[in-house]
Amino acid sequence: MNGEIISEINGNVLSLTLNRPEKKNALTRAMYADLSAALETAAADDGIRCVVIAASGADFCAGNDIGDFVQGVAEFTSPDVDIETLPVFRFLKALTFFPKPLVCALQGQAVGVGVTLLLHCDLIVAADDITLSLPFLKLGLIPEAGSTLLLPQRLGHARAFGWMALGEKLAAADALRLGLVNRVVAPGAQVATAAEMAATVAGLSPSALGHTKALMRDAQSLWQVVREEGRIFRRQLTSPEAQAAFAAFMKR
Ligand code: COA
Repeated sequence: MNGEIISEINGNVLSLTLNRPEKKNALTRAMYADLSAALETAAADDGIRCVVIAASGADFCAGNDIGDFVQGVAEFTSPDVDIETLPVFRFLKALTFFPKPLVCALQGQAVGVGVTLLLHCDLIVAADDITLSLPFLKLGLIPEAGSTLLLPQRLGHARAFGWMALGEKLAAADALRLGLVNRVVAPGAQVATAAEMAATVAGLSPSALGHTKALMRDAQSLWQVVREEGRIFRRQLTSPEAQAAFAAFMKR
């Protein structure tokens, strides 16, 4: 790990902190690879009962790093490259099948995959300054990480579609009302509150928790949706709309 993902173990709880605050924790292929390896190891380690995902700085995550998208576009879009070998999909697979509780501590802006990863977390604490946005359609892309299934299930079709298509930004009160987060706290308190929740969960029976989580989500079906979204997403990356949006961002 090169310091952009900080991994810490406290008792039975593993914390993974996105640590690239100068780029609003935008995720690169290297960061996805580190997150994937940490989740895969934690899944298999009986000593870890719960994982907390948090972020350094004022904002949680500005989504996929756009420069990294541009640099990696050939590999990302090549039909010869199996989707599961791409770091982002390795990460999404580790999330989709993660068998233990995932707790998230959220602050500031969360964009794109910084929002859709929340749909795989079991408990979410949000600072009251959050804004959640899904710019995929504006970028000529499609929502990913299973969000085309999970968001309409959680919010209903119209609200999910409006969020995706109208460029709406959800605030903490919206996220709480819509059941996207468990608790809203003062900015700065989200990590400690998430740690308290994680400690509570880590004290429960690991087998009972594992069965409960497995019964609450059909990971196999969800993974098929993530793969299908990925197949289309890869094609959309080379669309004129996506290329123009990325070029405009890079030129700012
Ligand atoms: N990829 C790469 N770099 C990013 C980034 C991203 N997704 N999001 C932010 N950054 C970088 C900016 O380029 C800037 O870097 P610089 O200081 O070297 O110029 C730095 O992070 C701070 O971002 P800035 O845009 O100045 O902050 P802001 O508060 O004005 O706006 C955002 C924050 C998140 C609204 C804005 O950065 C943004 O729209 N980012 C792109 C989000 C996105 O489309 N993600 C991809 C979804 S698929």
